[in-house]
Amino acid sequence: MRMYDLITKKKHGGTLTAEELRYMVEGYVAGEIPDYQMSAMLMAIWFNGMTAQETTELTIAMADSGDRVDLSAIAGKKVDKHSTGGVGDKTTLICAPIVAACGGRVAKMSGRGLGHTGGTVDKLEAIPGYETAISREKFFSIVNECGVSVIGQSGNLAPADKKLYALRDVTATVDAIPLIASSIMSKKLAAGSDCILLDVKTGSGAFMKTLDDAIALAQTMVAIGEGAGRRTVALITDMDTPLGLGIGNSIEVAESMDVLRGKGPHDLTEVSLQLAENMLYLVGKGTIEECRRMAEQSIADGSAFETFCTMVRRQGGDDAVLRDASKFPQAAVQVQIRANADGYITAMDAEKIGAVSVVLGAGRETKDSPIDFAAGLILHKKYGDAVKSDDVIATLYTDSTQRGDSAAQLYRAAITIGTEEPPVRPLVYARVE
Ligand code: URA
Repeated sequence: MRMYDLITKKKHGGTLTAEELRYMVEGYVAGEIPDYQMSAMLMAIWFNGMTAQETTELTIAMADSGDRVDLSAIAGKKVDKHSTGGVGDKTTLICAPIVAACGGRVAKMSGRGLGHTGGTVDKLEAIPGYETAISREKFFSIVNECGVSVIGQSGNLAPADKKLYALRDVTATVDAIPLIASSIMSKKLAAGSDCILLDVKTGSGAFMKTLDDAIALAQTMVAIGEGAGRRTVALITDMDTPLGLGIGNSIEVAESMDVLRGKGPHDLTEVSLQLAENMLYLVGKGTIEECRRMAEQSIADGSAFETFCTMVRRQGGDDAVLRDASKFPQAAVQVQIRANADGYITAMDAEKIGAVSVVLGAGRETKDSPIDFAAGLILHKKYGDAVKSDDVIATLYTDSTQRGDSAAQLYRAAITIGTEEPPVRPLVYARVE
């Protein structure tokens, strides 16, 4: 087999076989296929696309390029969750304990944040003492005991994706749906869960800016998951506006605890419940309606909150901050942002608001930037809310007035106040099964 012939085939719109795709992935990871040939192939894929079968075979070959996590030491069906990334998206901290409290099993490896979106591992590390790097044995035993453990990604999962993504990034081939779908799903297949719930975000703060693209990506990923023998469902959820009211690591943990105690904001509670009910449905706990009732009950009876506290304690964390958020280390500087007119908030640019959180110190500009766990913002008024001139619409938290002032300027530019009440937008646009 020659890479040259495979590039020619794809250039003319041909379909690559499973053997050809495996040859290509293995040869590239082994360093036998050079970057210039893989770049040509990626561009041919960008122009000509891939069939559902090709995308699935590519994903399986990528998942096989490194370790596959064996979760068989955990009893019962395991369900994973993946979000394509958003601003204020702390739903894993909410759904995972809900699912565990209702008898599902969540053995989850999460990532760190980069750029305008946050990462679950950073949020968990805001809890004093919480360890995200623990042995596999401890990870399995925590899931067996309390139904859930969330740790950082470890091991050599899908190295083909790492190498391919770096090449896509410099060859203008990131934005191809079969390549995005195979990249995400190769890591999910390697992570070993039986079922996968995908949260594909759409809107100004999302990777997929339009609903059509988000649906196309969701359909491709669901087909890959099912083709690889994993029960997979996707929800398309809104990321035109940040989710919930808090952005920033300890601020988001505190808000998640509010939801788990039944006093969180409506949008975050509703999206989290819909994700959790689908995770429970995937592991066979009942119909969607039954799973919804179970999820709601786990909030009402406190079991989801207590499950989260147990997981945190087992991973070395101090659950006092979960019971009383004022015990989190507090930011030195607070800046209030006030409305400059009467009217309604008619637009909030989620990507720009994510960038504000990075300026405040809550996120990373580069992979190695430090994080200030206390930094972030609380939104007092959101899309659709009526405001009066001089109302406080947001509070920013940071460690210096200089950062606070630059972030305040950016925040004002991310918000539009108009005179007409804007239309209500859905929180969940579609479900793909
Ligand atoms: N996220 C990924 O993991 N891969 C992509 O290709 C795009 C977003």
